[in-house]
Amino acid sequence: MNREAYIVGTGHCVPEKILTNADLEKMVDTTDQWIVERTGIRTRHITDDRTATSDLALEASRQAMESAGWKPSDVQAVIVGTVTPDHAFPSTACLVATRLGLGRVPAWDFEAGCTGFVYGLIQAKAFILSGLFDRIIVIGAECLTKITNWDDRTSCILFGDGAGAVAVSSQGPGGRLGSFHWGSDGNISDLLIQPAGGSREPATCETVKAHKHTIWMNGSETFKHAVRAMRDSCLLALENEGIPKSEVDLLISHQANWRIIDATARALGLSPEQVYVNIDRYGNTSAASIPIALDEAMRAGLLASPKNVVLAAFGAGMTWGGIVIRW
Ligand code: ACO
Repeated sequence: MNREAYIVGTGHCVPEKILTNADLEKMVDTTDQWIVERTGIRTRHITDDRTATSDLALEASRQAMESAGWKPSDVQAVIVGTVTPDHAFPSTACLVATRLGLGRVPAWDFEAGCTGFVYGLIQAKAFILSGLFDRIIVIGAECLTKITNWDDRTSCILFGDGAGAVAVSSQGPGGRLGSFHWGSDGNISDLLIQPAGGSREPATCETVKAHKHTIWMNGSETFKHAVRAMRDSCLLALENEGIPKSEVDLLISHQANWRIIDATARALGLSPEQVYVNIDRYGNTSAASIPIALDEAMRAGLLASPKNVVLAAFGAGMTWGGIVIRW
């Protein structure tokens, strides 16, 4: 019998502290009205000085394991998609695996910007179908507000912190990971970049003064590529799965901008009720946004079987990906 991969547990965690648009009005030249109209964001959750990405990832993973009914000894690998690891090295995944008490299992980070979680699910599916693992935890976790330039009104209004995790198993029942489409294009990597701190431009006093350790973004160009990439990823994933877009029950896309989500939904011919949106509460949490939304949708009963769900994301790289999940 063919092996399959199923999502059998979900969890998420956001920090308690909330930053409102009214708070941002006091920090930069912006208005609540502009932010809501142009992005759909009203609040975002932000970490304090003591909290790092692994802290959020740990709690999300605990919830995912609990909802899957997994003991620590059941987990065979942990993978984390993040652009804001606790450290450049060691990986956040190693820290989380140890704090979960998983013993000496393989654990590693990977980086695909906001597409991180979709890339993670595709990796998990491949590992499970190959027979290498039967049970993997996939995490998308970020503290984007730690690398936000709070003087840049074009970007600082967008970001929030959070983590989401799923337990992926070779045994159902659950959300079967179906067909997908993914890709990247380094030709447009400069649209979204944290310029310094890597081997190209190591940290110096000058790089810090120039805010080169924060997010640099060409918002309007990113927007255009995002709309195209999300639409095409969804349509190609559906085509690969062999189901028409009229059979999609729910779209859970990366929560970058309400207008991008809306454009993707329109391309699929979906009504507003068929799209999960929580960007108003959390802002853009990068790799964490889809697993946070997935966990909320699960707990709200929106994924009760049978359901055809499509996940779609784009992010720094540029990267993109869409995957069909069949509950
Ligand atoms: N408040 C008020 N006015 C603003 C603000 C603000 N916060 N930000 C920009 N403006 C102004 C601009 O200066 C500009 O003014 P001008 O016309 O006088 O020059 C005007 O608003 C329009 O600016 P645009 O950049 O054209 O606005 P746009 O509608 O494109 O919205 C936004 C900007 C929200 C950034 C949008 O382009 C977007 O969401 N892009 C995608 C961003 C994204 O998804 N990035 C992913 C990053 S996550 C990651 O991978 C780490």
